[in-house]
Amino acid sequence: MRGLRRRPSSTLMLSVAAAAVALSSMGAQAQTNMQAAIDSAYSQFRTLQEGKNADYIPALAKVDPNVFGIALVTVDGKVFTAGDLKTEVSIQSISKVFTMALVMEESGVDSIPSNMGVDATGQVFNSITAVEQYRGAEMNAMVNPGAITATSMVTGTSRDEIWKKILGKYSDFAGRSLSVNQEVFKSESDTNQRNQAISMLMHAYGHIKDNPLRATDIYTEQCSVNVNARDLATMAATLAAGGRNPVTGRQVTPAANVPKVLAVMATAGLYDDSGKWLFNTGLPAKSGVGGGIIAVSPGKFGIAVISPPLDAAGNSVRAQRAITAISNALGGNPYAVAQAAK
Ligand code: DON
Repeated sequence: MRGLRRRPSSTLMLSVAAAAVALSSMGAQAQTNMQAAIDSAYSQFRTLQEGKNADYIPALAKVDPNVFGIALVTVDGKVFTAGDLKTEVSIQSISKVFTMALVMEESGVDSIPSNMGVDATGQVFNSITAVEQYRGAEMNAMVNPGAITATSMVTGTSRDEIWKKILGKYSDFAGRSLSVNQEVFKSESDTNQRNQAISMLMHAYGHIKDNPLRATDIYTEQCSVNVNARDLATMAATLAAGGRNPVTGRQVTPAANVPKVLAVMATAGLYDDSGKWLFNTGLPAKSGVGGGIIAVSPGKFGIAVISPPLDAAGNSVRAQRAITAISNALGGNPYAVAQAAK
């Protein structure tokens, strides 16, 4: 087991460290349980044939629907996997979490509620009605209007500078240099007129200060970043560990911001199915139409599954089922506490 560094100045880091000690003290049996839970979910859901690849971005329809990869990374850097770890899919909406984290880092956590809001819309991720309802406020950075606005808030003097900052942040979370799937980027750029319209509306309502179409273009590129299941699980585990990447050991976002990031994920990470998801798992999570879902068990682990076929809400069917089964088998629900001693 990797040694744990204690950070007495931060309550959150202490609780993360305490959970990691608990995990490590479970030792070999806990590790066996983790691998067994993942293997079991893999074999249980491998043949599940529900859902359909996203096709409103033409390149996504061509991805092999049988790709199925699972990874779990603990807050002390242990990695457990099953299935396809090689295939990369585009990160899509999961990127929204990490751009929001970057904006919080640069402009403060309150820049998010005071701009696009932190409330659920109860509507699809690219709803224009949701923008109109509150003139672009009272929503969140997980749906497209809020997410494109968040991208527009990343600071920089040129598109290139902003882009490098975004890709660099994602790479820090993943613990390796990520790159863009150019086919997906082109395919979505050719078909993102609805997002362009959304960005113009957010500009009209004063949330995007300038250059809405450039913000949409950068947002489209961020959605096209390629990731495998292990990358995504490491990104989730970094949030589970209070912003410290447990594989590289680097603090990649301030620990104090992480509860705010997780709160937005819990509220809106699976769009209008976020309530059902939270009811079943208790986990802050985020889905993407590329087929990935990440989920965070704070102080314990990050988990990710890649499987392209989606349900009607735009969330991967196998990923939802597998993460629910694995997390519940491992006691990942942060709301489930042992009964207090009398
Ligand atoms: O903007 C879009 O429509 C896509 N780039 C991302 C949407 C997405 O991933 C929704 N997630 N479930």
